[in-house]
Amino acid sequence: MRTPVIAGNWKMNKTATEAVSFCLELRDRVADIDRVDILVCPPFTALKPVADVLDGSRVMVGAQNMYAADEGAYTGEVSPRMLLDAGCSFVILGHSERRQYFGETDRMVNEKVRVALRYGLKPIVCVGESLEQREKGTTTTVVGEQVRNALSGVAAEEAAGLVIAYEPVWAIGTGRTASPKDAQEVNAFIREVVAGLLGASFAGKVCILYGGSVKPDNARDLMSQPDIDGALVGGASLDINSFIGIITATQEVLKT
Ligand code: PGA
Repeated sequence: MRTPVIAGNWKMNKTATEAVSFCLELRDRVADIDRVDILVCPPFTALKPVADVLDGSRVMVGAQNMYAADEGAYTGEVSPRMLLDAGCSFVILGHSERRQYFGETDRMVNEKVRVALRYGLKPIVCVGESLEQREKGTTTTVVGEQVRNALSGVAAEEAAGLVIAYEPVWAIGTGRTASPKDAQEVNAFIREVVAGLLGASFAGKVCILYGGSVKPDNARDLMSQPDIDGALVGGASLDINSFIGIITATQEVLKT
């Protein structure tokens, strides 16, 4: 069975000091959660102090981006080696905000995915359609292409730990969530695409998350869907009570 992942994407929020005090509380309050993998993705400046505080706990740490090179003259960028050294085990790649505001293309995402896997960092690859694309009925074409491009040249043996997050762009930070049925449909479609690329056995094991205005009160319905294996949570992950609410709702679903 797939262990669901609840990942908090903090985006450009929280100083290192704020992040550490959040994680001290989180660590203690999720000590009894045993069926959900929990992950926080703070900004770069907070990664190391957060990883130190969470060391030995069930909460893992991820970055929100990385550059696809080992080291070198790339002013302002952060390498996979640096992320590993800071205590990260995951890295979010191809988030729609990276694509929209920083010009990331499918090709760049693919390079990053391949490099992250080579370093043993687990990529959380984000895909999702815009409102216009959904209204035109091209959701699966767009999402299918993003998944195929992101995984181009990746073999199943190299892809252990890969996570995919379906995040419809129109649902991010807007309060508009995809209905559980719509999200399930796209997640199931993504699993089929992954099966075509990496085989049915790999596809059966890969975690496919949903992201976009996930909150404690919609988490249960979303997480009850057979192909939704967790959530990438933005806004609601910044508040400790709502983040824990989503985690406990997910743990409850598994018990029922
Ligand atoms: P949101 O963001 O939960 O605030 O909609 C999700 C994301 O961007 O990962």
